[in-house]
Amino acid sequence: MVKSAYIASLLAACATPAVGQLHQLAVNAGLKYFGTCLDNSHTSDAALMAIINNSAEVGQLVPENGQKWAYVQPTQNSFTYTTADVIPNLATSKNLVLRCHTLTWHSQLPNWVANGSWTKAQLQAVIEAHIANVMAHYKGKCYAWDVVNEAADDSGAWRDSVFYRVMGTDFLPISFKAAKAADANTKLYYNDYNLEYNGAKTDRVVEAVNIIKAAGAPIDGVGLQGHLIVGSTPSRANLATVLRRFTALGVEVAYTELDIRHSSVPASSSALTTQANDYANVVGSCLDVTGCVGVTVWGMSDKYSWVPSTFSGAGEALLYDSNMNKKAAWTAVSSVLAAKATGTAKPSSTTTTLVTSTKATSTTAAPATTTTASSSTGQARWGQCGGIGWTGPTTCQSPYTCQKQNDWYSQCL
Ligand SMILES: *[C@@H]1O[C@H](CO)[C@@H](O)[C@H](O)[C@H]1NC(C)=O
Ligand SMILES: *[C@@H]1O[C@H](CO)[C@@H](O)[C@H](O)[C@H]1NC(C)=O
Repeated sequence: MVKSAYIASLLAACATPAVGQLHQLAVNAGLKYFGTCLDNSHTSDAALMAIINNSAEVGQLVPENGQKWAYVQPTQNSFTYTTADVIPNLATSKNLVLRCHTLTWHSQLPNWVANGSWTKAQLQAVIEAHIANVMAHYKGKCYAWDVVNEAADDSGAWRDSVFYRVMGTDFLPISFKAAKAADANTKLYYNDYNLEYNGAKTDRVVEAVNIIKAAGAPIDGVGLQGHLIVGSTPSRANLATVLRRFTALGVEVAYTELDIRHSSVPASSSALTTQANDYANVVGSCLDVTGCVGVTVWGMSDKYSWVPSTFSGAGEALLYDSNMNKKAAWTAVSSVLAAKATGTAKPSSTTTTLVTSTKATSTTAAPATTTTASSSTGQARWGQCGGIGWTGPTTCQSPYTCQKQNDWYSQCL
């Protein structure tokens, strides 16, 4: 009785990281969260919410739209939070990590800001009032705020926004200083897309971080949105190189809006496999870089994605299909997280840890695996023994065999 309970607890402890849900695996792998955006209009879809409500799967939320300037301050000095509060309230009630999004951004900006004729001092006051009011409303609730969003354009030039036209790059440190004054205990992020390709735009955002710091303003993080394309996503190593360009500046990084779209749909099965591989590379690059804190996908299901309405003909960019079935990409993300979560650096560390921790709650003798582990060659029971990118042992200690779970993960069972 005691022994079978022991084995059952050992199996449960081992099985959890290998087949677990995404947030739980991400935390076991050393990240702070795995999360998603959610729009107010999607909270009434019970099938979607069954996924979102599983806190082992989704540990972080960000409002897809509600906190944007056009919603919270549609006319000057008139702040309204009815729309903005829906997703933050959901996150708070479930004790999830909340990313807040976004403050100084050229898009979804009301006409009175975008088309006002401002002096530099006037526009500075407008930015400061907006940030002070919005961040005070959410004070203490946001793990991070995207303070400035998308200040570089697609060519790598500074974006031709009202902010840049009136203020030059001064709007960058002014925004971050205002944010720090409003809530000193949230992570202040610069957030942008197409940084993943390490081109002129990446260089420009490195410059932005340096401008902010040189002005004596605080910045804690850079968000790489990760709106990528199947088959054109950089390799895991190249993605990690980009992340390290930013962590070398003393900021943390995160993937904040990840989706990987097919250029034409429906996707073929080989395209779905390529997409899975691309997802594994993005999530894997975060795991490879100290200072990468989490991954946020821009929606859980292909049923709700900004992609088809923005990129004509493109779609199916997310981890679940429109019927809420897990895609190959989900398995790939799960596997790359599980590979890290189960520990791959030292072949027998997983077994050792489990036996030690289980013994603490049991007065029975340790099982036979303890004595055979040290004298056998190959990977220990439960350890990883194969998969794309795996460079560790490919054989298992007797009597276990290396069993393929999927392309990214084989395990000694
Ligand atoms: C999800 O959670 C919310 C808030 O706790 C609840 O109102 C809703 O009924 C849940 N939906 C499903 C499908 O679990
Ligand atoms: C600003 O004005 C132009 C020209 O009237 C218009 O096309 C544009 O939509 C306006 N911008 C916003 C954000 O309303």
